[in-house]
Amino acid sequence: MLTHMKNYVLITGGAGFIGSHTADALARKGYKIRILDNLQSDVHAGKWPRYIKEKGYELIRGDVRKKNDWQKALRGISYVYHLAAYQDQRLDFSKFFETNTVSTALLYECIVGKKLPVKKVILASSQFVYGDGMYRCSHSNTTFYPELRTALQFARGEWDILCPHRKKAIPRPFCEDQSVNPTNSYGLSKRALEITAIRLGKTYGIPTTVFRYSIVQGSRQSPKNIYSGALRIFIQQALAGVPLTVYEDGHATRDFVSIKDVVAANVLALKNRKTDFEIYNVGGGKAHTVLGFAQAVKRITKTKSKISIGGFRRTDTRHAVSDISKLKKLGWGPKHTTEESIAEYVKWFKEEGFDRKINRRGLIELRRGIKK
Ligand SMILES: NC(=O)c1ccc[n+]([C@@H]2O[C@H](COP(=O)([O-])OP(=O)(O)OC[C@H]3O[C@@H](n4cnc5c(N)ncnc54)[C@H](O)[C@@H]3O)[C@@H](O)[C@H]2O)c1
Repeated sequence: MLTHMKNYVLITGGAGFIGSHTADALARKGYKIRILDNLQSDVHAGKWPRYIKEKGYELIRGDVRKKNDWQKALRGISYVYHLAAYQDQRLDFSKFFETNTVSTALLYECIVGKKLPVKKVILASSQFVYGDGMYRCSHSNTTFYPELRTALQFARGEWDILCPHRKKAIPRPFCEDQSVNPTNSYGLSKRALEITAIRLGKTYGIPTTVFRYSIVQGSRQSPKNIYSGALRIFIQQALAGVPLTVYEDGHATRDFVSIKDVVAANVLALKNRKTDFEIYNVGGGKAHTVLGFAQAVKRITKTKSKISIGGFRRTDTRHAVSDISKLKKLGWGPKHTTEESIAEYVKWFKEEGFDRKINRRGLIELRRGIKK
């Protein structure tokens, strides 16, 4: 098995959304695929998903927090995509660092310790590292990095970020070279992953690329976890006929990127030497209001659900839109629209029969839990 391994790719989290699509694209290009995944219960209910089982990939059920599992998975590997992660906004803070950051250190520890011939490591970070990003104060024409909005601000329904002169401030799309300011454990652990990977990669000569994905959309996003992803939540709400819950005033902005464009970026980084030791935003290149997005879901699903506006989540960012010009310079660009991604997800969701298993009560409780 170890004789012809120069094209062997390890994908951690490969049973998941981005990992499985990346695996399929690389397999089509002739790479051999090995997947390391612990089949996290709130994503897969402990089973290999059908879309992976059928492909003939080498599957290892293991945990990126365990060095032994890394050692087993890295045997004979030339390229690594480290996509396994603990995600969302949860209170077990340390688990984010164990799964996202310590695992990254373990990966380099294994490569360096055993002098493994790994040619490239590509890691998933997130737009979340920027937090609220950078704003311009229109009063003094200076820039600043805002703190989290206060409970008082939320209570007053003052959704927009204000400058130090208490005037509305203007957000700047996130650029790779600006300071980052993660607002939750997920973002913090991803930032630590980035620094760890780029530093160890440079020091030990292991070409490394980090991608900060925006909100990724398309088929195979697990609908089991209702606490993540506006699309997953809106579609379940639309298909269940309950209101689509848009927080704040609906004018928060986001950028959404198709899984197909994300996969194209992942594939590009494998051989492109210019991407070594670099960090790139991978986004849709366009700002959408959350309200506009919910309206698009309504149109595409033809639901009678209303859109309900209000409530908030304390650590949500107000505007999160990435500048993608750095990656575009390498010839990459988003080719698929948000509407296409929504339609693709709805189609897959129904094909898999998830529309028949929607936890209507959970969706209503989710809304109650937020609107304090
Ligand atoms: N989907 C998005 O919108 C988005 C946005 C920004 C960044 N990302 C990042 O991209 C990567 C892939 O995300 P995704 O959307 O495909 O998520 P996903 O949940 O579909 O896939 C993640 C996979 O990792 C596995 N996993 C979790 N903990 C593990 C562990 N300890 N050991 C081994 N496997 C483990 C899960 O079982 C799952 O199959 C993640 O690193 C995520 O943080 C995703």
